Amino acid sequence: MKGVILAGGLGSRLYPLTKITNKHLLPVFDRPMIYYPIQAMVNAGITDIMIVTGGRKSGDFLSLLGNGADFGLKHLNYTYQQGEGGIAEALGLAEHWASGDSLCVILGDNIIQYNVAKARADFGKQGRGAKIILKEVHDPERFGVAEISGGKVLGIVEKPKAPKSNLAVIGIYMYDPRVFQIIKTLKPSERGELEITDVNNWFIQDGSMSYDVLPGWWTDAGTFESLHRASTLVKDGGANLMEVPPQA
Ligand code: DAU
Repeated sequence: MKGVILAGGLGSRLYPLTKITNKHLLPVFDRPMIYYPIQAMVNAGITDIMIVTGGRKSGDFLSLLGNGADFGLKHLNYTYQQGEGGIAEALGLAEHWASGDSLCVILGDNIIQYNVAKARADFGKQGRGAKIILKEVHDPERFGVAEISGGKVLGIVEKPKAPKSNLAVIGIYMYDPRVFQIIKTLKPSERGELEITDVNNWFIQDGSMSYDVLPGWWTDAGTFESLHRASTLVKDGGANLMEVPPQA
């Protein structure tokens, strides 16, 4: 399995912090935001990683990360997203590199307390289709929200005004290689983006979507409130530092 970390976009919700730099280079407690999804990949046992950057200061990723020595990696791959066409568009840029492998995708502003090694192993056994990871939240209207019944995902709605559950779809996804064909069929949403939720709903309709519920905390860091919360959670609880959650 290969890993793709999506760190494009303009980070407009964090303006003016993102006026002159890329959101994923901003600090979360004691290190740049992009360190957390890379560590999450490595902790899941994925070392063949591509970073999709874009927007402002994308060249700074190279100066900061190089070939990934800080994470024990020998090499990192990079590609560039022009503009802000959406999460699914950014993922589509990894097609030639993925060359038929299954993928774990992590959004560059998502931070988890533990790791997704078990979800990765379960997806390996599943063999095809996709897997999403859910987390109960108090503000589901900010996220993709999943409707669940009988151990199955019935559907996902992106930022619903009246959420059918409080289960947010976190920014860690696993896909079989059909994902790139699906991305090519997508039309831009009302916000002008190719939506990852549309990709996930395709796999749900296909009957090949599974889900896990994440142990430990999770946060995004794309708004002032969540960026502040992320720093506090990391400071108080550590992120990606423990191999397994205590209850597992
Ligand atoms: O954090 C989880 C949520 O992330 C999910 O629950 C939603 O279903 C999903 O759509 C996404 O929602 P956001 O609206 O919060 O995503 P945002 O636009 O903030 O983008 C998240 C990351 O994706 C961002 O840190 C970098 C990457 N991205 C985003 C866009 C729009 C790109 O690489 N390129 C892009 O064009």
